[in-house]
Amino acid sequence: MNVIWARSLAVLILIAIGTLAMYLTVSPQAALGLACGVLMALLLYYLYQINRLWKVLDAPAYGDIPSALGLWGEVYYRLHRLVKRWRMQVLQVEQQHTRFIQAIQASPNGVLMLDDADQIEWCNEVAELHFGLNARRDVRQRITHLIRRPEFVQYLMLQRYDEPLQMRDMGEHKQNVIAVQVLPYGDNRKLVLTQDITKLENTEAMRRDFVANVSHELKTPLTVLTGFLETMRDLPVSPEDQRRYVDMMLTQSMRMQHIVEDLLALAKLESDMQPPSQDRIDIAAVVQHLVHDAEALSQGRHAIDTEIDPTVGIRGTHSELMSAFGNLVTNAIRYTPAGGRICICLDWQHGHAVFAVKDTGLGIDAEHIPRLTERFYRVDRSRSRDTGGTGLGLAIVKHVLSRHHAELRISSEVGKGSVFRVVFPTDRSVRQ
Ligand SMILES: Nc1ncnc2c1ncn2[C@@H]1O[C@H](COP(=O)(O)OP(=O)(O)OP(=O)(O)O)[C@@H](O)[C@H]1O
Ligand SMILES: [Mg+2]
Repeated sequence: MNVIWARSLAVLILIAIGTLAMYLTVSPQAALGLACGVLMALLLYYLYQINRLWKVLDAPAYGDIPSALGLWGEVYYRLHRLVKRWRMQVLQVEQQHTRFIQAIQASPNGVLMLDDADQIEWCNEVAELHFGLNARRDVRQRITHLIRRPEFVQYLMLQRYDEPLQMRDMGEHKQNVIAVQVLPYGDNRKLVLTQDITKLENTEAMRRDFVANVSHELKTPLTVLTGFLETMRDLPVSPEDQRRYVDMMLTQSMRMQHIVEDLLALAKLESDMQPPSQDRIDIAAVVQHLVHDAEALSQGRHAIDTEIDPTVGIRGTHSELMSAFGNLVTNAIRYTPAGGRICICLDWQHGHAVFAVKDTGLGIDAEHIPRLTERFYRVDRSRSRDTGGTGLGLAIVKHVLSRHHAELRISSEVGKGSVFRVVFPTDRSVRQ
């Protein structure tokens, strides 16, 4: 028997006992009067409590649950318990929902949900950025009314979603490449995922350019070599011509060797996971070596100076830095006409060791400066090639320096000259 029945029965038994006592002690009429009066009071009390309960149940939101004595107290207590449990469940669901939304918002990919009529139900901030949408304003709008690009409309219509769609000129600045993948779910609903693949695309473009450049760079000397070999095979050639041809073939094969050596050096730097050494570089020996090589290359056509602060030192891998500095000095000689000055400097600036190569040469136009460290990039292709350049020198320099966390700063003025500065990080800069 539950508590309602037990309490109701107890009340009825009490009324019955009272009525019986009245019947026995006073009179049957008095007993009847008492029974009617008590039952009427009980009915009124129940009606009052039903009215309170009705108000609680009819309220738009659950307010405070009233309290009462006895049987109604039990009813309200249970109602209170039920409401508390519901509130807890609603709270849990709300928290789960919030966490779910936060997780999707934290995703680097865009997420957009479409209903069965391709209307936007919800989207995260990344999807807003990728598609240029506004989640609040555009909700319940048909997606194809907002994104009208024919390739996207067709992709949605054709319903062939096994391959993602690539969309160019997207994002805030209309410069990104976005991969869009649609995943159907539920009753004809769609989940649209977007991913910014601009970097991936750029890397792929760089790889394609690189392969094309290598092939192009090797093709020219190979064509020259083949041409001479064919001439020597098919035509009678005088001993002097033969010697001249062999010399020219040797130049071309040395050029190819130079390219391959530079490419191997780059590959080695890229694959080397070991950080450069922290050994202190013998600056005096390095500078002596650089000056010696510069003089050999210049053959007296340039004035070569040094300005070295003897208190400044550098920590790093000797061979790598030697190759980087050597490259900068070689460039200075090659791109400075005869009579120019070249200065190899080392000084201390704001807590950093700074190595610099200054020249009074051709100079470089500002538009080329950001691209100089790209592989095979040359300002004047024919001039660089004539002087034996492959366009890989500064790419190697950049790699060596980035391994040392050093920065390459280039300042230049056309017709006046250039300064290539290498700023070493504090942990690789030493001062006595
Ligand atoms: N000191 C400089 N003065 C003027 N132009 C320069 C100087 N250093 C580099 N450049 C320009 O930058 C380009 C890229 O230089 P980089 O050293 O990468 O290639 P390179 O000298 O042509 O060939 P490599 O060094 O591989 O033999 C050069 O072709 C040249 O146009
Ligand atoms: Mg060079």
